Amino acid sequence: MGRRSPRTAAPRGAPVLWRTAVYPRGPGAPRLGPDELHLWSARLCPPASVELRLRQSLDDDERARAARFMMAHDRTRFVVAHGLLRHVLGRYLRVAPELIQYRYANRGKPSLVLRRGAPRLQFNLSHSEDLALLAVVLRRRVGVDVERVQPGRDTAGISARFFSPGEAAAMRALGPDAQVEAFYNGWTRKEAYIKARGEGLSLPLDSFDVSLTPGEPAALLRAAGGSREVRRWELVGLTPAPGYAAAVAVEAGIRRIVGWTLALAPHETSGGGGGDSDDDSTGAGRAESR
Ligand SMILES: CC(C)(COP(=O)(O)OP(=O)(O)OC[C@H]1O[C@@H](n2cnc3c(N)ncnc32)[C@H](O)[C@@H]1OP(=O)(O)O)[C@@H](O)C(=O)NCCC(=O)NCCS
Repeated sequence: MGRRSPRTAAPRGAPVLWRTAVYPRGPGAPRLGPDELHLWSARLCPPASVELRLRQSLDDDERARAARFMMAHDRTRFVVAHGLLRHVLGRYLRVAPELIQYRYANRGKPSLVLRRGAPRLQFNLSHSEDLALLAVVLRRRVGVDVERVQPGRDTAGISARFFSPGEAAAMRALGPDAQVEAFYNGWTRKEAYIKARGEGLSLPLDSFDVSLTPGEPAALLRAAGGSREVRRWELVGLTPAPGYAAAVAVEAGIRRIVGWTLALAPHETSGGGGGDSDDDSTGAGRAESR
């Protein structure tokens, strides 16, 4: 997988670095600063040896969930997304992927069971078709959403039903092409905020507004908790791969965002995957704003 150039609008001008890493080799132990946000994107179509290794790292609950998918490609995507999640979190925590333990909040948001002294990592995962996106931060709530952009989707109908009146009006003010981009801006930003809060759809979708007009910075504009709640959150809009839209909502104060595109290389030996080789980044670039 070659280096891609995902586009992102960083909060308040934070520099954005994008790198490529190759699973299972690197990066060995990513360093996450207290004001950093790390993003990981990966295609969920692995070599067979990678799927096998990732499946081995899942717990019984994840394997049971995987087994419930009727379609093989859906099963593979689930296995790879959750195996990579374990792999990446294990690198931060310096533990083997299979030793990662989760707990689940009332509405299903997973978080880490952390041992005493472990970094206070928080994460959120999203997957759509064959792309997964993972956000990792320290001591901040975070939510992420990625969506495959589907031409021909009833964007006007869905936004009229699910967006707030202000967002729906912002959509209607745009021409047809801009409306599609605005729709995915709105959808992913709303989902990211809901996921950061961990409340699922118990948080009414019309109880808050996000920016969605193309070219405008990603932002939470209105929320039920008033201006204090609005100031609490930063939103980031990005295109993690061609044909996908995504957003991250994170508690404010992020100064630096680093993203990795994770390429999946075949396992050379049967017990690999937990290697401690160093970061094999191929370079970094400042992303374009959108
Ligand atoms: C539960 C919910 C987070 C699912 O979102 P989704 O877009 O279907 O799926 P995503 O891939 O983005 O996220 C799923 C992952 O989020 C995590 N997750 C699960 N429940 C969560 C919650 N309450 N809060 C945050 N993250 C959650 C899990 O890691 C999950 O992965 P898994 O399903 O493979 O275990 C929920 O917000 C939802 O059902 N959203 C759909 C709302 C909608 O219809 N919006 C209309 C457009 S605005």
